Amino acid sequence: MVQAKTWVLTERFEGFPKDSNFRLQLEQLPDPKDGEMLLEALFLSVDPYMRAYVMRIQPGEVMMGSQVAKVIKSHNPSFPVGSHVVGRCGWRTHSLSDGAGLTLLQADWPQEVSLSQALGGIGMPGLTALYGLEEVLDLKEGETLLVNAAAGAVGSVVGQIAKIKGCKVVGSAGSDAKVAFLKDLGFDEAFNYKTITSLEETLKAASPDGYDCFFENVGGPFFSVALPQMKQFGRIAVCGGISLYNDTTPQTGPYPHTSMVFKQLKMEGFLVNRWQHKNPEGIRRLLAWAKEGKLHCREHVTEGFEKMPSAFMGMLKGENIGKAVIKV
Ligand SMILES: NC(=O)c1ccc[n+]([C@@H]2O[C@H](COP(=O)([O-])OP(=O)(O)OC[C@H]3O[C@@H](n4cnc5c(N)ncnc54)[C@H](OP(=O)(O)O)[C@@H]3O)[C@@H](O)[C@H]2O)c1
Repeated sequence: MVQAKTWVLTERFEGFPKDSNFRLQLEQLPDPKDGEMLLEALFLSVDPYMRAYVMRIQPGEVMMGSQVAKVIKSHNPSFPVGSHVVGRCGWRTHSLSDGAGLTLLQADWPQEVSLSQALGGIGMPGLTALYGLEEVLDLKEGETLLVNAAAGAVGSVVGQIAKIKGCKVVGSAGSDAKVAFLKDLGFDEAFNYKTITSLEETLKAASPDGYDCFFENVGGPFFSVALPQMKQFGRIAVCGGISLYNDTTPQTGPYPHTSMVFKQLKMEGFLVNRWQHKNPEGIRRLLAWAKEGKLHCREHVTEGFEKMPSAFMGMLKGENIGKAVIKV
C-alpha cells in the first residue's frame, strides 16, 4: 500500500482561480496487479489549458495534468522499474497505471537535460511551437514573425525555432525581466506590453513592413491591434487565448473581418495532438537543438507538491519565465 497525495477540485473556477478551489487529499493505493505499475511523480506541469478545460472534470475529482514519473513497482514488462514516463496522471504524487496513454522516456535521455524538460521545451509545449510554425504557418526563411506570451513555455521555443529558420522575430511579454530574457535568446525585437504607450506604434516600429506570420497565444485586444499589422497574405496560427480564459463574460470586438478580407489573411486554430504521430521525431529534433545549444529551455521551478495551486495561479498571473513546473 502506498499513500498518494492528490489535489482535488472542490468547485469549478469562477473567474480567476483561488485557493479554496483546491483541496489536498490523501488516497491509499493498493499494490499493482498484473499488467499494472506504480508511478511516483518527480515533476508536475501547470499549464493554461487546465484553466480553459476545467469544465471537463467534476468537483471532487483530481485536477488534470501531466507529470514525469518514475516506475517504482511494475508487473508490466513494457515499463520496467526505474524507467521514466510522461503521463496525464493528474495532480497526484503516486498513481497506478496499466500503461494506457503513457509515453516512455527514451532510455538514452541525455544526463545533462533535466527530465522535467519532457514537460516543457522537449515536450508538449515545445511540440506545440514546432507544429504551429511548421505545420500551420509553414514559416519560411527571411520572414518576420510576431509571437505573444513570448517568454513562456511555448512562446520562448517559438521564437528560438524561428531564429534557427533564419527569420526575424518580434516578441511581447509582461515584464522587463522577460524582455531581457527574450533578447538573450536572440529575439530581434522584444517589448513589455504592460509598459508601452501604444501597442500599434510599438508593432509598427518593430517591423515597419508588417508581419508575415503571427503565432497567437493571447487573444483579446492584443489580437485586435496586431491583425492590421499583418502583411498581405499574412498567416496566423491561433495557438491559444490566455487573456480570455478567466473571463466571466465573453469579450466582444473589434472583429477581425476588415483585416482578414482586405489583407487576405489566413488564420488557423490548432491543437498539438493533431500531429501526435510525429511526436517521436519532433522530440528528437527538439532534443538535438537543445544539445547543439540552439534551443534553451528555461524553467520556472516551484519546489513542493503542496504548492501546486499557487504555482498554477502564479503561471496564470505571469510569474513564470519559461516553463512552469513543480518538483515534488
Ligand atoms: N493549441 C495547443 O495545442 C496549445 C498547447 C499548449 C499551449 N497552448 C496555448 O499557448 C499559450 C501559452 O501557453 P504556455 O504553456 O506557453 O504558457 P506560458 O506562456 O508559459 O504561461 C502563461 C503566460 O501567459 C501570459 N499571460 C497571462 N495572462 C495574460 C494576459 N491577460 N494577457 C497576455 N498574456 C498573459 C503570462 O506571461 P506575461 O507575463 O508575458 O503576460 C504567463 O506567463 C496559451 O494560450 C495556451 O493555452 C496551446
